[in-house]
Amino acid sequence: MADWSPSAYLRYTDERSRPFTELVARVPGTPATIVDLGCGPGHLTAVLRARWPEARVTGIDASPAMIERARAADPDTEYALADLSTDDHTADLVVSNAALQWVPEHRDLLPALADRAAQVFAFQVPGNHDAPSHVLLREVAAREPYADAVGPVERRATADPAEYVEILARPGWAVDAWETTYTHLLHGPDPVLRWISATGAQPTLQALEAKDPALRARFEEEFGAALREAYPERAYGTPLAFRRVFVVAARA
Ligand SMILES: C[S@@+](CC[C@H](N)C(=O)[O-])C[C@H]1O[C@@H](n2cnc3c(N)ncnc32)[C@H](O)[C@@H]1O
Repeated sequence: MADWSPSAYLRYTDERSRPFTELVARVPGTPATIVDLGCGPGHLTAVLRARWPEARVTGIDASPAMIERARAADPDTEYALADLSTDDHTADLVVSNAALQWVPEHRDLLPALADRAAQVFAFQVPGNHDAPSHVLLREVAAREPYADAVGPVERRATADPAEYVEILARPGWAVDAWETTYTHLLHGPDPVLRWISATGAQPTLQALEAKDPALRARFEEEFGAALREAYPERAYGTPLAFRRVFVVAARA
């Protein structure tokens, strides 16, 4: 996959940070060491520091651009360029926000990730794979001339809370899982297109760009029009319903 754009991703920092704050609020204990898997541009380390000022935090990410941005913004934290599925860092708290959905077959990986935590394994993943934004992305990308350039767009489905409990509620573990649907109020032109361009639609847009920048522009126009219809702008902003799933697995 092509690299991420930290500045595009950071455009909706408040909306993207809130679930992490709410996840971390449910983590029990006082970890001395924390590993953040798929840490992104490092802005969420501040949330960890606010909760556990004494903890030693390590951020792991597979994107060179994200790691570079994190190191520049937060030189006092250790950031490592690595794939979270093969990385072997251990810590009291292993945490991950909005990253595991990018790992193929992430469900199979969860017990091994939990085993890397001496105290708690906590993560949040989006549960919006069948929201209009994602359905439309797959539909428009399946049309020609885009389909020829990008192939089928993967439906990156995450599980429901109960399924994560089923996977992680092994002897010696207590699992707390829940979901929240946020109503984000976005502003400015084509806000849903801008939102999804920095995350879910990013691989598709980059594949089109690599083929032909004009093709990407044409796709953005067509996809943007479909999104405007699905997410109408109101006087107070454009509401975007966004479902997220949270899991906190703690050693009993
Ligand atoms: C949506 S961003 C989330 C960033 C940050 N955790 C946050 O919540 O703002 C997803 C991040 O996961 C990273 N990522 C995706 N697959 C990964 C993998 N296999 N190993 C490590 N990082 C990965 C991406 O590079 C990206 O920075």
